[in-house]
Amino acid sequence: MDQNKINLDRRSFVRVNAKAAALLSLAPSFALAAPKKEGARLRVAMVGTGIRSLRAWGIELVEPYKEYMEMVGLCDINEKRAKNFGEIVGLDAKIYPADKFDGMVAEQKPDMVLVTTTDSAHSEYIIRAMELGCDVISEKPIAIDEVQCQNILDAEKKYGKKVYVGFNVRYMNDSVEMKRVLDSGALGKIISIEFQEYLDTDHGASYFRRWHGKNKYSGSLFVHKSSHHFDLVNWLLDADPIQVSAMGSVSFYGSNNDFRGKNCRNCNYTDQCDFYWDITKNETLKKLYVDCEDVDQYYRDGCVWDEKIDSPDSGSVLVQYDNGAYLNYTLNAYLPYEGQSISFSGENGRLDVRIYYNQPWSDEVKTEFRLTKDKKTLKAWTISPDVGAHGGADKRVKDNLFKPNTEDANGQRAGSRAGVLSSLVGIAALKSIQQGKAIKIDDLITL
Ligand SMILES: NC(=O)c1ccc[n+]([C@@H]2O[C@H](COP(=O)([O-])OP(=O)(O)OC[C@H]3O[C@@H](n4cnc5c(N)ncnc54)[C@H](O)[C@@H]3O)[C@@H](O)[C@H]2O)c1
Repeated sequence: MDQNKINLDRRSFVRVNAKAAALLSLAPSFALAAPKKEGARLRVAMVGTGIRSLRAWGIELVEPYKEYMEMVGLCDINEKRAKNFGEIVGLDAKIYPADKFDGMVAEQKPDMVLVTTTDSAHSEYIIRAMELGCDVISEKPIAIDEVQCQNILDAEKKYGKKVYVGFNVRYMNDSVEMKRVLDSGALGKIISIEFQEYLDTDHGASYFRRWHGKNKYSGSLFVHKSSHHFDLVNWLLDADPIQVSAMGSVSFYGSNNDFRGKNCRNCNYTDQCDFYWDITKNETLKKLYVDCEDVDQYYRDGCVWDEKIDSPDSGSVLVQYDNGAYLNYTLNAYLPYEGQSISFSGENGRLDVRIYYNQPWSDEVKTEFRLTKDKKTLKAWTISPDVGAHGGADKRVKDNLFKPNTEDANGQRAGSRAGVLSSLVGIAALKSIQQGKAIKIDDLITL
């Protein structure tokens, strides 16, 4: 008998059963929206009160979902920011400094803790919240290194609590359409995927103004940003990444300029810098960040030419999957336009997906699909995003997580395993760049 076949079959068996176990452990997942006290609303506490939390989990959660949940506490290293957050949302939840996180949980008795801090701080709160008896929703990425990933998985097992990850990209119309085509079997077995991420000099640059461009806080953009894309591919293929090889560099931002300042408002080069940005023109950002700088010296209009920037702004990542497929992924964060090109090549054809937004030649936001079955058969169609943040996806994540008895028909509700596997691809990519060799996922973690 073919030894490779036995190994593959055994591995598939282990993988399928691990997934089945993971699904089973999600079986009482409607309990996600079930408060400890019958008839009560879900008690939710939040740690990390920045702009993402304000929009996605503040303004768009507290009032619209008040039938199902109540926000009972806000915690941040910057209490002033947490207070201003409460004022903007119109919420009078009690404010706690970061060193009183345990006190918040003891006093407010939340069922669920929302973790929306800087990426590097996610794991400590995820683990502590579970230890204190709470389930957790974490923003992506769940963690920025392999030790954090392992500790989260171990803690989830130890404390019998659940971690969910807010992978909103899974809920976008184009992602669901890709899933529909792939699951239909139209392409047969998927052999390879090409995924190009285009970030422009507004959106792309925004990462390098902040902690996101420093590996010790974000694990690099391959973790902070690309974990969305790696999760999307993992989810679409229903396969696990096993090996990663990457190249990348800081080729545009960071030290690639002759001048620099501490931040835009204190800079001598505002007249000549293409990236000068006056944060004070945005009332919300001013209240959330500028007005709170005296507490933690967090300058959100930091310099894109900061020489401490070490996250690659350009790179290519090759990922091998346990079903034999390969992903060829590129990220460029300094382009004149935004969007994505994603192609799936299968034994029976190819699906090309082109996502358009923020480009100089047209205001149109749309996704073109082209399915080529053979040299004669071609089907092309276009879809549009829905209204709302991230094309309506942010609302769908909240429906899935907070509305009781919401059916998770597409398997979009992501747990810790999905969170960890998406982060690990980015973590392995950075290691591969630093060490100049391929990195095996199995060498980083025991799943
Ligand atoms: N899903 C998405 O589409 C999406 C979009 C943007 C950001 N995010 C994620 O949301 C999170 C927040 O991003 P952001 O852009 O709002 O960042 P931010 O820096 O604006 O906000 C982070 C907040 O966490 C606080 N904080 C930092 N360390 C802390 C600690 N140890 N204890 C308590 N509070 C701490 C900061 O003071 C700040 O208020 C990140 O994990 C980011 O990756 C997700």
